[in-house]
Amino acid sequence: MSGHLACIGVGMMLGAHLTPRARGHLEAAEVLFALVSDPLVEHWLATLHPGLRSLQGHYAEGRPRPQSYRAMVDSILAEVRAGRRVVAAFYGHPGVFARVPHAAIAAAREAGFEAVMEPGISAADCLYADLGLDPGQHGCAHYEATQLLIEARRLDVHAWLVLWQVGLAGDRSHAVRESTPAQRQELVDRLLRDYPAQHPVTLYEAATLPVGRPRIDTVPLAALATAPLSMATTAVLPPRGRAPQAGVGNPC
Ligand SMILES: C[S@@+](CC[C@H](N)C(=O)[O-])C[C@H]1O[C@@H](n2cnc3c(N)ncnc32)[C@H](O)[C@@H]1O
Repeated sequence: MSGHLACIGVGMMLGAHLTPRARGHLEAAEVLFALVSDPLVEHWLATLHPGLRSLQGHYAEGRPRPQSYRAMVDSILAEVRAGRRVVAAFYGHPGVFARVPHAAIAAAREAGFEAVMEPGISAADCLYADLGLDPGQHGCAHYEATQLLIEARRLDVHAWLVLWQVGLAGDRSHAVRESTPAQRQELVDRLLRDYPAQHPVTLYEAATLPVGRPRIDTVPLAALATAPLSMATTAVLPPRGRAPQAGVGNPC
């Protein structure tokens, strides 16, 4: 079958993070879909491929995001099934904390089409660079913030903790663009089980324009629920002390 799907990442910074391979897919696209964080990025992509079809229209106030995601996958798959060479461009890395690219690729493959993912520079990659954080030094765990409230998990406090979608922490409707301070307090209360109230939390937002600067603000954990958070904020907690050394004969 001739339909083909490539889900590509365009990175975080407008015009600066597109890999030659991702650009190659863009140039070969018969149909280009895009789901990016900023209208300027969408505008820039439209200059590379004038027929760009934005997936943003599938979001609607009050509509649960899983419903919007299904509609996005259906739009993408309809073009693949029609035999076209389809590219779907996503900001950051298409495989990092992003459901639509994974679901679209799985659906295309299940239907017998070739589908590939082309990596991009994610918010995590920018974070490692801007905060000077090496995830290999003490270990590093990444969670979606609300997932920590829904699932009973043990945190490794000796590793870095990176919390995604912290601006939506505590929201279970999946239908709003930000959670309330009371809902965010649930996250604070969960973290207070493992960290002291004064433990630093860095609020990070990567620069998305070449002239911009990243946001790097540090607040005590106790103040997280009332700190300014956006859809683009990722929270980072440093390790709480060094991990104990494994004793002789201890398999850990
Ligand atoms: C749905 S995920 C998309 C992540 C994206 N696929 C990537 O590769 O970075 C959205 C979350 O990514 C993080 N994020 C998005 N834009 C960001 C930015 N400019 N700086 C830091 N984190 C960001 C935030 O945690 C946000 O809630």
